[in-house]
Amino acid sequence: MTTLTLRRPDDWHLHLRDGAALAAVLPFTAARFGRAIIMPNLNPPVTTTQQALAYRERIVAALPAGSNFQPLMTLYLTDGTAPEEVARARSGGIFGFKLYPAGATTNSESGVTDLRNIRRVLERMSEHDVVLQVHGEVTGVEVDVFDREARFIDEVLLPLCVRHPGLRIVFEHITTRRAVEFVRSARAGVAATITPQHLLMNRNALFTGGIRPHLYCLPVLKTEDDRAALIDAATSGDPRFFLGTDSAPHARHTKEAACGCAGIFSAHAAIELYAEVFDSVGRLALLPGFAAEFGADFYGLPRNPDFITLADEPWQVPDSYAFGNDRLVPLRAGEMVRWRMLGSAGK
Ligand code: NCD
Ligand code: ZN
Repeated sequence: MTTLTLRRPDDWHLHLRDGAALAAVLPFTAARFGRAIIMPNLNPPVTTTQQALAYRERIVAALPAGSNFQPLMTLYLTDGTAPEEVARARSGGIFGFKLYPAGATTNSESGVTDLRNIRRVLERMSEHDVVLQVHGEVTGVEVDVFDREARFIDEVLLPLCVRHPGLRIVFEHITTRRAVEFVRSARAGVAATITPQHLLMNRNALFTGGIRPHLYCLPVLKTEDDRAALIDAATSGDPRFFLGTDSAPHARHTKEAACGCAGIFSAHAAIELYAEVFDSVGRLALLPGFAAEFGADFYGLPRNPDFITLADEPWQVPDSYAFGNDRLVPLRAGEMVRWRMLGSAGK
């Protein structure tokens, strides 16, 4: 049996929700990852340091006994975010602010309508070296859904990088060759996360044999050429690209619906699925950098002290998992995942 032992990874983009949903999904992440940046798109959104610290407490209270998992919090930017919130966030141990263009994705209705409305907040973030996490899609109804990321780069991200030269930015869940090229040529302080689904599938997967609501997420899956560029970026050893699952659980009936929610749940097999991608191009040796080193380095945190082991031992993903009073359909439901996580060990 082939095994791979690697430093415990971190997930730099994760949705945990709240209440019973949180309790249902948290153990999957806590078993695999040392830390995760917890997205603030609850309803209502997490917009203040105080709310984020209270949410953090609820996450810690929901952890399985003995878990050392650390939730890292980020605040949801709105048109009304107070510039003073940045210093409060900094001293309160908050790890970033998340920019959702209003209307871009799930629970983004309170997001930012125009970057001019948060200019002073962004200036304070540069001064205090607080990271900006960006959902990079424009929202205009006239813009083709597959072009939204590229248009965002030209119309929003490039000007933002110039206007705020000291601001550190994570371009979240990149999906296109254009985004890979942007990050590679960007000034210092710009990085990107990449999800398992955008590495594993192209947009054909949404329509294989019929419409596949469980493979619908935002930004939507792109072309095979885009996927090839993402694989090349993730497996290149370039520290500007690191792991962020964007695992985003939704109850089964809200996805299998006339208007299904965006979001793919991958926390049950996240590191295993990334291993599959790296293995597919013969670059498993480069997985530890992407999964366990570059993100921690970017956020200025120590790398995790302990290790996990993956074995080349296929297993079948259940058709669904419990999700409060509902069910949740995970990525690869009913299908095989090639790598299995065996366990973890101290240093
Ligand atoms: C996320 C969610 O469900 O919260 N959905 C998704 O498709 N990725 C929101 C997001 O990150 O865009
Ligand atoms: Zn997300």
